[in-house]
Amino acid sequence: MSDAPNTWELRYREGQTGWQREDVSRALLTWLADGTLQPCRILVPGAGRSHEPLHLAQAGFQVTTLDIAPTAVAHQRAALAARGGIALEGDVLSFPAGQPFDAIYEQTCLCALPPVQRAAYAGQLHSWLRPGGVLAALFLQTGREGGPPFHCPVPDMQTLLPQAAWRWPDRSWPEVRHQDGLFEIPLALTRR
Ligand SMILES: C[S@@+](CC[C@H](N)C(=O)[O-])C[C@H]1O[C@@H](n2cnc3c(N)ncnc32)[C@H](O)[C@@H]1O
Repeated sequence: MSDAPNTWELRYREGQTGWQREDVSRALLTWLADGTLQPCRILVPGAGRSHEPLHLAQAGFQVTTLDIAPTAVAHQRAALAARGGIALEGDVLSFPAGQPFDAIYEQTCLCALPPVQRAAYAGQLHSWLRPGGVLAALFLQTGREGGPPFHCPVPDMQTLLPQAAWRWPDRSWPEVRHQDGLFEIPLALTRR
């Protein structure tokens, strides 16, 4: 097995992190305000160096983050240390389901994965959550072929996360715009 840093780790080391926002997503603030997300055990897969895990911890959540890039894990470990949060290094495709989480905050991890890995990742999301748990997901819209980031159109997401396994919301939330023209569609699904 190679000791070479993975592609994502190299991006962090080389500062190629154009996806990183300097503030907390408006979608998360809305979900906290409207009660979609309430303090609980929450997993943030592919957390990177995002600000949302600390914000969740400060709001009373028991936060676990997971990422494949050691630099990102070290960042979250330092950020969460004083709040009792846990930052784990690992691959979302092999992270085992232990004690089920009550919620998952999925912010642009899915769009980072090659589409061929999506079905496996969807299975993982389902296995990590308890029945009735919330998948608060931000589906990135690039409108183009290739990636990362890879386009996550809602019809494809409905196939990936089918009604038989997930209850889809009957409401919508405001899109989150990026400065580069991309945007995210926030949708909170409930695991059946
Ligand atoms: C587009 S970035 C988003 C980071 C963060 N969610 C944010 O909003 O800033 C994707 C993240 O997923 C991580 N990642 C990619 N593939 C992964 C995998 N198979 N397992 C765990 N993390 C992965 C990368 O290291 C990176 O931190």
